[in-house]
Amino acid sequence: MRRRIEPQATGNEPANKKDAADKTTPSKAEAKGRLSYTSVLINIGKFLLLIIVIPPFLNYASLQREGQMLLPKDGQIVDISLGQKMHLLCKGQGKPVVILDAPTGMSSDIWFHVQESLATLTKVCTYDRMGLGFSKRVMQNETTGTERVWGMSTTGRMVDDLHRLLQAAGISKPFILVGSELGALNGRFYSHIHDVQVTDLVLIDPLPEDIFEEEQWKEYWYGKLLPSFQTRQFSAATGLSRMLIILGAMEPAVNGEGVTEEVVQRQKYLLSNPAHQSSAVEEHYFLNESAAQVRDITKFKPLSSRVSVSVITGDHFDKQIPEHLNQMVAKLQKKFLEESYPSANHIHIKGADRRMIYKKPSAIIQHLRRIVNQQQAKEQSQ
Ligand SMILES: *[C@@H]1O[C@H](CO)[C@@H](O)[C@H](O)[C@H]1NC(C)=O
Ligand SMILES: *[C@@H]1O[C@H](CO)[C@@H](O)[C@H](O)[C@H]1NC(C)=O
Repeated sequence: MRRRIEPQATGNEPANKKDAADKTTPSKAEAKGRLSYTSVLINIGKFLLLIIVIPPFLNYASLQREGQMLLPKDGQIVDISLGQKMHLLCKGQGKPVVILDAPTGMSSDIWFHVQESLATLTKVCTYDRMGLGFSKRVMQNETTGTERVWGMSTTGRMVDDLHRLLQAAGISKPFILVGSELGALNGRFYSHIHDVQVTDLVLIDPLPEDIFEEEQWKEYWYGKLLPSFQTRQFSAATGLSRMLIILGAMEPAVNGEGVTEEVVQRQKYLLSNPAHQSSAVEEHYFLNESAAQVRDITKFKPLSSRVSVSVITGDHFDKQIPEHLNQMVAKLQKKFLEESYPSANHIHIKGADRRMIYKKPSAIIQHLRRIVNQQQAKEQSQ
């Protein structure tokens, strides 16, 4: 709008100015005379209306533009059938392919460091689970009806999505499957069902399937963590997140040395994006269901001995939560690993917690490189 008005104004400036002056002078005098409490209130009202209406409006306008601009250059939007499309981002060349599955509520960007580094060795793919990042959720009326079975954001549906994605994209098998938190639940479910497709399963900070039976954990997850994500969703929808980002009060998780501007911008876009945030909430909300599904599948169909399992954990699950919760996670992790994966290779990273995949990725990268090298050597000797 401004653009259209400005050229006109420069065209006949003196006349306009005079007009404006003529009009404003009497009303100004009037206003001065009756500058009452009400008019102040009305102005405050207008101001409040502006700050309530404008930010979401600007946010939505920016999201439209950014959604097209920030799609990764190497990224593909893959049609996985049944009307669904998913975002897959592969880098590097070679075999075996490494598939990276992100923690609860996070987009593929969280793997930036791991993916960049491993891509010098082989092909490394990450993706956005349905609803997150650039994998837009299909509307209920656009589905064929089949999806309703898997409607919830639980591991069962995610594994089905991932399987269809890898098929549709023609990813060569078998591959190395790496998952963190919810990604680790997905990795387990996937490997138990499609065991011929996975050579190595790598679990980073896996959430034990029994954890939601602990009252204190439920209290933390549903009473503290989930509400913080709901607040984020609200803040994104109202445009507040965008303002906080501009003011520097909210920052993307993956930033600092070596992180490209594009990756930083993309995370800011997702922080301000209510659709992404709403899916993050949903994944947290259904995590107890996901855990229950993994417990069932583990009992029903044990993992093939062909699949090698390794587990990577830090000193704590999360440095920012109370120690008794961390101990609870550690105890239950030990239990499920002994029961379900007794020969798993356990790697402990000193000083790390659940943020290690972007804050302390070097030890993870080192371990994944070793697995890739082993598989490549095996391939050559055959
Ligand atoms: C689904 O609903 C939305 C919103 O009501 C509408 O814009 C869209 O055209 C619908 N899609 C189909 C395939 O009917
Ligand atoms: C998960 O939590 C919800 C809400 O607390 C509950 O209704 C549901 O039964 C739980 N599911 C499982 C498998 O425990």
